[in-house]
Amino acid sequence: MKIAILGMGTVGSGVIKVIQENQMEIQQFTNEPIEVSHVFAKTITNQHDADFQNVIVTENIDDILNSDVELVVEVMGGIDFTFGLHQKFLSKGIHVVSANKDMLAVHIKELAKIGDENKAQLGYEASCAGGIPIINALTYGLQANKINRVLGILNGTTNYILTKMTQDAWSYDKALKDAQEKGYAEKDPTNDVEGLDARRKIALLSRIAYKQNLNVEDIPVRGISQVSVQDLEYAQADGLTMKLLGKSEYHGEKVQISVEPVLLPNNHQLATVNDAANAVYVNGNAFGETMFYGPGAGSLETASAVVSDVMNIAKFGFVGNLIVEEDANIDLAGEAASYF
Ligand code: HSE
Repeated sequence: MKIAILGMGTVGSGVIKVIQENQMEIQQFTNEPIEVSHVFAKTITNQHDADFQNVIVTENIDDILNSDVELVVEVMGGIDFTFGLHQKFLSKGIHVVSANKDMLAVHIKELAKIGDENKAQLGYEASCAGGIPIINALTYGLQANKINRVLGILNGTTNYILTKMTQDAWSYDKALKDAQEKGYAEKDPTNDVEGLDARRKIALLSRIAYKQNLNVEDIPVRGISQVSVQDLEYAQADGLTMKLLGKSEYHGEKVQISVEPVLLPNNHQLATVNDAANAVYVNGNAFGETMFYGPGAGSLETASAVVSDVMNIAKFGFVGNLIVEEDANIDLAGEAASYF
């Protein structure tokens, strides 16, 4: 299968690397090689440590639209421009795999429909919780249940910052700078530290879990930018650890949902999730409760999710996108559910 990669930053370079290094595993699963034929980018620098010999690097999207590419991977970020690109490719029946939670959290309803009308699959495992296959789990593993709760640490940057401030008494600024250098943070880290990134992820996950559309802007959010090392020391003295949690519960009529820093008892499993790791708890009426733990950000970690989506589409083709008609009734009046 010929594919194109739109964007060649942290995740894009990781995708190239995983595809080139794991060719054997890919071929065993898909029965055909995955070939990156085009990259949509200004230039390719050597930093990516990959072979670009047979790759067409272009800044003209029509070169890709009019090629024999069957799937595009969108790892550029941004909202309006990338939404337009998704529409163009899906309308042409070209599958799209995207890590773009910012755009998807707003436009997934429309894109899923365009995809279905044109038999184009939209894969977005990489949009939530990096290397944890939580979207596949909710969509293809736990779908026999009525899901009533999704809860977890969904942003690696803030978890890294809180970990360093708690365990090493690093200042907020130092920890943020380090998270940026490690490639965890968004281009504009405001999205991380003010909880906006986690808000988009809990919206996407809740949509799959409850089959309800959620307006991201309606979800109450509080980030960690006002948290001080002293706050965390006081919490530790009381046996508590702070984590930024995305929380949602569905009660049949209303969805209680929020993103906020929560003080957890030190022995709670979520309190032990450190550095850039993410963890997600899901509750369903048949399986009870399950917890997913793993890397939440990073180049290869996110690329793992992207390439898995690509492989699934190469093997199974169009299997249908999740179409959701009902809009969630977000319970703004009620207190955000408390579980601890
Ligand atoms: N900035 C995000 C995070 C990247 O820190 O989790 C992965 O979505």
